[in-house]
Amino acid sequence: MRSAEMDAFVARVREASDILSVVASYVPLKRKSGRYWGCCPFHQEKTPSFSVVPDEGFFYCFGCHAGGNVFKFISMIENVSYFDAIKLQAEKLGIAMPNREKSEKELARERKLDDLRKLMGMAQSFFHNCLVKTRYGEQGLRYFAGRGVGTDVIETFGLGFAPDAPGKLRDAFKKRGVREELLLEAGLVSEGRGGGVYDRFRNRVIIPIADERGRVVGFGGRVLGDGTPKYLNSPETALFNKRKLLFGLDHAKKAIREEGKAILVEGYMDAISLSAAGVKNVAASLGTAFTAEQCRLLLRHTKEICFCYDSDEAGQRATMRALSIVRGTDAQARVLIIPDGKDPDEFVRKHGGEAFRTLADKAMPIGKFQIRYALKTNDIRTLDGKNRALRACLPTLRASGAIEQNAYIHDLQGALGVDEGIIRQELAMYRGDEPASEFRPPMRRQAVRTPDDAVRRAGRGLIRMAWRDPGVAVAAVAELEGEPFPVALHEKLLRYIAQCGELHQRPQDEEILANLGEEAAAEISRTMIEGRDESEENYTAFLRTIRLAQLKTAFEEYRLRADEMERKGNSDFLQELQKSQRIKQEIDELHIQIDSLHQDAETNG
Ligand code: UTP
Ligand code: MN
Repeated sequence: MRSAEMDAFVARVREASDILSVVASYVPLKRKSGRYWGCCPFHQEKTPSFSVVPDEGFFYCFGCHAGGNVFKFISMIENVSYFDAIKLQAEKLGIAMPNREKSEKELARERKLDDLRKLMGMAQSFFHNCLVKTRYGEQGLRYFAGRGVGTDVIETFGLGFAPDAPGKLRDAFKKRGVREELLLEAGLVSEGRGGGVYDRFRNRVIIPIADERGRVVGFGGRVLGDGTPKYLNSPETALFNKRKLLFGLDHAKKAIREEGKAILVEGYMDAISLSAAGVKNVAASLGTAFTAEQCRLLLRHTKEICFCYDSDEAGQRATMRALSIVRGTDAQARVLIIPDGKDPDEFVRKHGGEAFRTLADKAMPIGKFQIRYALKTNDIRTLDGKNRALRACLPTLRASGAIEQNAYIHDLQGALGVDEGIIRQELAMYRGDEPASEFRPPMRRQAVRTPDDAVRRAGRGLIRMAWRDPGVAVAAVAELEGEPFPVALHEKLLRYIAQCGELHQRPQDEEILANLGEEAAAEISRTMIEGRDESEENYTAFLRTIRLAQLKTAFEEYRLRADEMERKGNSDFLQELQKSQRIKQEIDELHIQIDSLHQDAETNG
C-alpha cells in the first residue's frame, strides 16, 4: 500500500487539516492559557480534561488518556480505521486520493455512485421547489401546516412535494440531460406497463432521507389523505439501504454527542416533530425492525439509546425486538412509553418539547420494560399465564444486578400474587442458556409442521442474504423471534450466522460443518448454489412468508389446545380460543400487507 505518492497524499491532507476546527465541530472548546479545553468525547465527564494544542496538531485527554493527531481523533470519534479517517478528511477537503490502484470496474462504480448522488440532490431540490415555489405545492404546504410543520422545519429537513402528474420530474430531468436508466436506477421513476417510465412519487409530500453525512440517498413520500401505502419509499438502490440508515441522524448526531443520549423513534414525522420542538437528539428507524447496523451507527455517537416507539401493541413488540438487537452490544438502552397519545409526534405536539424531555429523563431501564411486557402479554389471572409470565421474566432477572433483581422480584410478587420464595427458587433453577426464552411460549408444539416450497425458498433466500451480510441474520432472527421457524434447520443456520454478525465476523463454511453438522453444511451449499441476487424487497417478502407460516402453526396449536380443553371440561379453553383469534387477526393483517405490497408493485411496475 505504501508508495511515495500515497505518502505525499497523506502529508497533503495532514497539512490542510486544522485540528482545532475538526475537533471543534464535535466538541465545544474554550481557550485557556494557550490551549483549548472541552469535555472529553471519549469518556463521561463534567469538568473539561480534554485539550487541543493546535500548533502541535495534537489532542489529549488527561482523564482517559486518549490522544493523538487529527486523524487519530477522526478515527476515534467516527469509529473508523486510521486510514479511513484520512480518506474521510481528504474527501471533506476535496483532496483526491491517488487512484492508480483502482481497477476500471471500481472507477466505473464510483462514477455511477457519484452520478446517483448528484441526481438525488437534484431531485431533492426539485421536490423542495415544487413545495415552496410552485402552485402544485400549495396542498403540500397545507398538509404540513395541518401537522404543525412550519417553514423553518421545511427548510431544515428540505421537505418537498411531488406533483400529481405522471412525469413532471421525468420531463424536467430529461430536459436537463439525465438518462432514463439513471432515473430508473435511482428509483425516481418506474417502468409502466406500456414501456414508458413514470414518476414514482406523485401527489405526496416528500421527506428526503440522508445518510449520516447529510447526502440525500432516498425519499419517503406520504399520501396527503388516508390512501395506501401511507408512505411510499425509494426502492433499494446502490445508495439506499434502509437497514443501514437512520432517518435524521445527520441532523441529530451533534446533539446526540452533546446530550450523551440518542432517542430512537419509529416514524419520519416523530423525528421531525421532536426536532422541531427542540428535542434534537432524535433519529428514526424508518418503520423497519431496528437492525444491528443501525445500532452500530448510533454507538458511534453514544452508548445511551432511549427507544421511544409507538405505544400500541406493534410498537411495544418492536421495542422487544430492538432490545434483542441491543443485547450483546455495549449500548445502554432504556425505554420510554408515551403515556398519552399514540406516538411521539402526537405527544410532543400536544405537550411540547420540555414535557418530552422530562419523560425521556425518566425512561425505564430495559429490565423493567421487559417485565412489564411479560405481565401485559400473558393472562396473569390464570395459573398457566402466571407461569409463563414468570418464566418470561427469568432471563431479565438473571441479567440484572442484585438491587434491581430484588426490586423486580418484589414487583413480580405483587403482580402475580406468587410467593417470593417460589420466584427465587425458579430463578435458581433457571439455566441461562435457553435461547431467547422470554419470547417463546413454554408449551411444546403439537401441530404438524409441513413447510411448503415457498417457505423453504424464503428461508433459503434469507440465508443467502445473511451469508453475504450477517447483519441480515441478526435482523431476521429478531424479526421472527417468538415462534419456532417453520424449517428448524433454517432457524439453526440463521441463528448461527446472526451470532457471527453480532461478533462482526463473517460465517465460514468449515465452521458450519464443525458446529452445526453435515445436514446444515449441505443446506448451505445448496442454498448458495441455487442463489440469486436478492434485494430489500425480497427480504421483506421472505420475512412475511415465514412469519405467516409461524402464525398459522401457532393458530392451529391454540385451536387444538382449546378443543382438547373443551373436551376435558376445562373452562380455560375460552382463553385459548381468544388467543387463537388474536393470532388470526395478525394473520389477516399480514395478508393485507402482502396484498398491498403486490398492489404497490403493480401500480409502480
Ligand atoms: P406509522 O404507521 O407509525 O406512521 O409508521 P407514522 O410515522 O405515525 O406516520 P404519520 O404520523 O401518520 O404520518 C412508522 C414508520 O414506518 C414507515 C415510515 O418510516 C413511518 O414513518 N412506514 C409506514 C412505511 O415506510 N410505509 C408505510 O406504508 C407505513
Ligand atoms: Mn404518526
